[in-house]
This record gives sequence, C-alpha cells and structure tokens, in this order.
Amino acid sequence: MKNNLFEKIEKRAKELRDLIKKYDYAYYIEAESLISDREYDLLFDELIRIEKENPALITRDSPTQRVAGEPLKQFETVTHDTQMLSLANTYSKEELVDFHRRVKENLGREPNSYVAELKYDGVAISIKYKNGLLDIAATRGDGTRGDNITHNIKTIRSIPLKINPISYEGVNLTDFEIRGEVFMFEKDFLKINEKRLESEEKPYANPRNLTAGTLKLLDPKETAARALQIACYYLLTQQIELKEHFENISMLKKMGFPVSPHSKLCQNIEEVFTFLDYWEKERHSLPFQIDGVVVKINSLKEQSQLGFVARSPRWAIAYKYEAEKAVTLLKDITLQIGRTGQVTPVAELEPVFLAGSTISRATLHNADFIAEKDIRIGDYVQIEKGGDVIPKVSGVILEKRTENQLPYKFPMHCSCDLNSILIRPEGEVNYYCNNPVCPWQVRRRIEHFSSRNAMNIGNLGEKVIESLLNLGYIKNIADIYELKRHSDELKKLERWGEKSVANLLDAIEESKKQPFNNVLYGLGIRFIGEVAAKTLARHFLSIEKLARATKEDLTAVFEIGEKMAESLLAFFADEKEIETINRLKAFGLQFELAEKEQGALNESQPLLGKIFVLTGELQSATRNEAKQMIEKKGGKVTGSISKNTSYVVVGNAPGSKYEKALKLGITCLNEEDFLEMIGYSEP
Ligand code: IVH
Repeated sequence: MKNNLFEKIEKRAKELRDLIKKYDYAYYIEAESLISDREYDLLFDELIRIEKENPALITRDSPTQRVAGEPLKQFETVTHDTQMLSLANTYSKEELVDFHRRVKENLGREPNSYVAELKYDGVAISIKYKNGLLDIAATRGDGTRGDNITHNIKTIRSIPLKINPISYEGVNLTDFEIRGEVFMFEKDFLKINEKRLESEEKPYANPRNLTAGTLKLLDPKETAARALQIACYYLLTQQIELKEHFENISMLKKMGFPVSPHSKLCQNIEEVFTFLDYWEKERHSLPFQIDGVVVKINSLKEQSQLGFVARSPRWAIAYKYEAEKAVTLLKDITLQIGRTGQVTPVAELEPVFLAGSTISRATLHNADFIAEKDIRIGDYVQIEKGGDVIPKVSGVILEKRTENQLPYKFPMHCSCDLNSILIRPEGEVNYYCNNPVCPWQVRRRIEHFSSRNAMNIGNLGEKVIESLLNLGYIKNIADIYELKRHSDELKKLERWGEKSVANLLDAIEESKKQPFNNVLYGLGIRFIGEVAAKTLARHFLSIEKLARATKEDLTAVFEIGEKMAESLLAFFADEKEIETINRLKAFGLQFELAEKEQGALNESQPLLGKIFVLTGELQSATRNEAKQMIEKKGGKVTGSISKNTSYVVVGNAPGSKYEKALKLGITCLNEEDFLEMIGYSEP
C-alpha cells in the first residue's frame, strides 16, 4: 500500500519536473508563455512540497535545484580539459582578406565553407555534462584554469540541467562540454542600473561588467535575481567524431541549449562580408550588445589542419566594430539636482545621431571629470557609445576651440530660484545643494513619491507635478492629499477639465491603499531603495517602531548596512520629516503592515529577524537542511557568534562556538528544542 502511494508521488514529481522543463524552455528560449505565472508557481510549489516531504525524490535535474545550497566561501579552481582559446582581432576588411589568404595558403585550397556569428559582448564560460546531466561549469580564467561557477550557472533557466537525448550516427551523446557567452539584455541591465541610481549607488558601466560581476557572486540567490542569458557556440566531445561547426550548433539546439538564431553558413568570403555589413548597420536593433562578428571555418577537419598559434586558433577570427563616435557642439552645461540634493553636471549638446538614437544630453559625472578633460562650454566634443549604454563625452576637439571659450568654473550656487550654496563634503566627488526646500529637490521628491513602485499615482506625472508646483498648490508630498480643495480652480485651467481632475483625485485617493513598504520607499529616504523598504517594513512592522530603532537595532537586520542605518537615523531626527509623516498619517496612508499581511507573515515566517548559529552534528538534518528550514521560516544563519546572534543550535560534539555562546549568554537550543521551534514533525 505504502509503496503504491510512494510510486504515485514519484510519478507526479517526474510529471511536474517535465512540465516545468517544458514551460521553462518555451519561456526562456522561445520567448513564449504557455501558462500563466500563477499556474506555473502552483506547479513549482507543488514540486517543492513533494520534495520537502520526500527528500529521496529530489533529482539533480529538478528545477528546484537551480537555486539550492549555501553561498560559497570561495571559488574552487577547475582545470579545463581543452584550453579555452581566445580570438585574434581584426578591425578592417583588408585584415579579413589577409585571414582568408592565410587560410587558403595553409590548407592549400579554398576552405569548404565559413560560419559567421555574432560576437556577443559578455563572458566566456564552459559547462561539462556527464550522463546528460549538468556537471561542472567554469569561467575561462587564464585559459587553462578557471573558477568553478556551477552554482551560478545553474540559476540560468535557459540552460538545461538535463539535456534532451540525441543520437549521432547511432551513439547517444551524453558526455560533452559546451562553451558559450553569458550576457545580459540591455533592458535588464538598465533596470538594475535604474534601481542603483534610485538608491544613489554607482551604476554599472555596461552589461558585460555587470555579467562578469554577477557570475562571480558567491550566493546563487543573488545571481538568480539578475536575468542572465547565454548563447552557446561550441561543442566538444570524445564520444563521437564531430564533423562541422554549423551542424554542432544545430545539435546543441536540439539538446535544448540556447544558440544564436543569427549564425550563417557562408559558402565564400563574400557572403561573410555581406553578413558583416548587415550587422554593422543592424546591430542596434538587437536587444543585447555585440562588439563584432566571429568568422569560423566550418569543417572541423580543416580546423584541425589549421591548428592554432599561441592562444588563438588559425581557423577563426574576430572582426570588431569600432566604438561609434560623433562630434557635436557642447551648447551648455546644466546642473541636475537629485531628490537628495546631489548635483550632476549635464552636457547640453547640439542633437546628433549616434548608434541608433539621437543624443542631445550626456552626463559629465562631476566637477573633477570636467576639470580633468578641460571641457568648456562652446567646445566641440567627441561623444562615444562603446560597450556603455549611456553615451559619454570622451574628449574635446582642441583645433576647433576659439579664444572665447574659457575654462569651466563649477557653479557655487544651485540652479534653482533660491540660489542656495552648493557644498562638497570632504572625501566626496559630488557637490550637494543642502537646502531641503530647494525647488528641484522638492520636485524630484514628489516625482519619486508618486512613481509606480512607490505610491503609483499614475495621473501625477512629471508634467502635472510641474504645473501644480508652479500654481503653488503643492509644496511637499503631503500637500498632494489636500489637492481636492483646489478642484474647482483646477477644472478651470486650460487642458484640465472635469474628467482629468476627477481622474487625478481618484488616483490620489486610491494611493492611500498602498502598503506600508511602498509608503516607506516613497518617503525618499537616502539609500533606502525598494528592497530595503520592504525588509524594514517586515522587520519593524510600523513606522513608530522603525523611528524608535537604534543604530544597533537597524544594522542587526539582514542587509541593512551602516550607511542605510545612519541615513534612517538622520531622517527620523528631522522634525520636518516627522511633521510630513504625521500629516500623511492623518490622511489615512498606511504606516503599518496591514493586519492580514502581518498575520500571514508571522504565521509563515515566525523566525523573521532571528539570527541562528549552528554548531555540532544534528541527527535529523544535515547542516544545509537545517539552514534551509530556518530560512524558510524567515530566520537567517551566520557562521560566527556575535552579540546579534539570537540562538545557537547545539548538536553532537559542538565546537568552540558553544563555549562562546555560553560566555555571551546567548540562548542555546538542543536538537529537540530546535525542531520544536521550527515546527518540524517527523514524516
Ligand atoms: S568562439 C576558439 N564565438 O569572444 C574560439 N567566441 O576572444 C573560442 N565570443 O573568449 C571563441 N561570441 O568570450 C566565439 N560566437 C562566438 C562568440 C565568442 C563572443 C567571445 C568569447 C571569446 C572571445 C574571443
């Protein structure tokens, strides 16, 4: 009877894995949604539940294993079976003709065919499969040895944990290595940078750097949150004799790997040129960045005949596109003031077309950048779009400079009507306008408050905010909720009318329902982005408790650092901010986590904010399992004991941590206490 039931569960687990694999393939490779997010989540949750109740059913290719395990302490080194070569670069068609000539000389005839591929601007990786299962993934490193990044590569949902079986000339292909480029879509890169800017962190320079940094994260959970992509371009195996590169790519595709849809089999070098020209023009229509084209000899026999020199093959070459540049007039330098007063100088340019779009503004970063490059108003400047998505001013055309152009003096005053003094705190590169009533800051703060991820008042966009500020109807975020007093006047305004005023007031009223974490984020506290606001709301539950928290209370919360804690303390020490909060409260905004949310949270996450340390061996769970149980209930596990530790779980033969815990008077739990605390009951 029992066996029968177990078999049923096993069958269901397999069914769920296959379904999820199918939906993942459709979604992540073919960009097609076969079911709704909710249905998908339900299937995933069911599989998690089955596996939790029956750990014996967990398989290595289960989708639940993509983000499993603890963060690494450091990377292990992997020695590549075959060296990971790099490519020689060329920048002109002449050099490519030279390459073709060398190929012909070495082969003693024309090559059979070429394959032209996009050169993805990302990070090269290698993945080995054993018995059809993903085994080890590594970075290129120095070409001979790289870092083991299997934990991160598994989080990329388009990479199969288990391949679709294929047979080649009667042999099942199960043991092989693939190589490819991990990269990021421009839109995902921009989204991450937007968030960084919002919490006033330095944005990443380009998608490639962010991809490289992401692959080097030690915690796979963080990697999983950043949408990485891959294009596979190489297959190696001892099992069978492979014949052609282009055929290998189509085999990779059949096995379930993402490959570039843009590769082209070219019968001669002229066809390669056509491909180069096409993508030189069209590359900006791609959703990701390429830095050129790779040209490869198709026949693997010809490839091995040609061999390689130093670290590059003689059978392939990279044709790199130049970074696109343009020269234009710098009409003016204006100052952009952020919601916290940070000043960014902006180049106002004579509009110029560059790399797929018209550019009329570019950031000049800060005063030092302008001084170093000696950029002057009236200069002709060179702007560039290299690997960076945001254009940059890369130099000044000195020959075009006249005597009228004087060195730029960074303004001493804010560009707003109040003319407040700008200050540059010691050790910082930025200037700040320190006047909290600076109209620019006020405006940015209102825009932030109204934005989608904060109060989401759709009808209160930049333009409307500007008009309302000019009319004097709003001076700060709390005034928004008194706008209805001006509704008659608003209706009389040109282009406003009954309907738009009613819509605006409705949207404002509706925003009162936004949960506490959105309100907290909307307050625009420096360094407190969306994620931190959520964490704080969950931990402190109400604004009163948050406002009363000490620096220690704040930094004890997972992921709240010193800088954030200090910013929060400064914010709550400011009487004006407290006054605003009191007004918002009176209007009915949410300043505590709604009861049902709180209830659900407490029920499912009773260990929220609790920090555990494990020592010694447990009977009923491995350390990793214990850690997962704690995290599931909202707790956190750290490696060493400090005064912030809430509990020490003591198993058999505990280490020195136990003594330390006793010394510091931290509550120690034996296995039984611990199991009871996390509500574990034997299956
Ligand atoms: S083939 C021996 N194909 O460019 C040939 N590389 O320096 C190995 N890359 O390290 C590379 N797209 O990171 C190849 N379609 C493509 C590529 C590509 C990007 C990168 C790869 C490699 C570097 C060449």
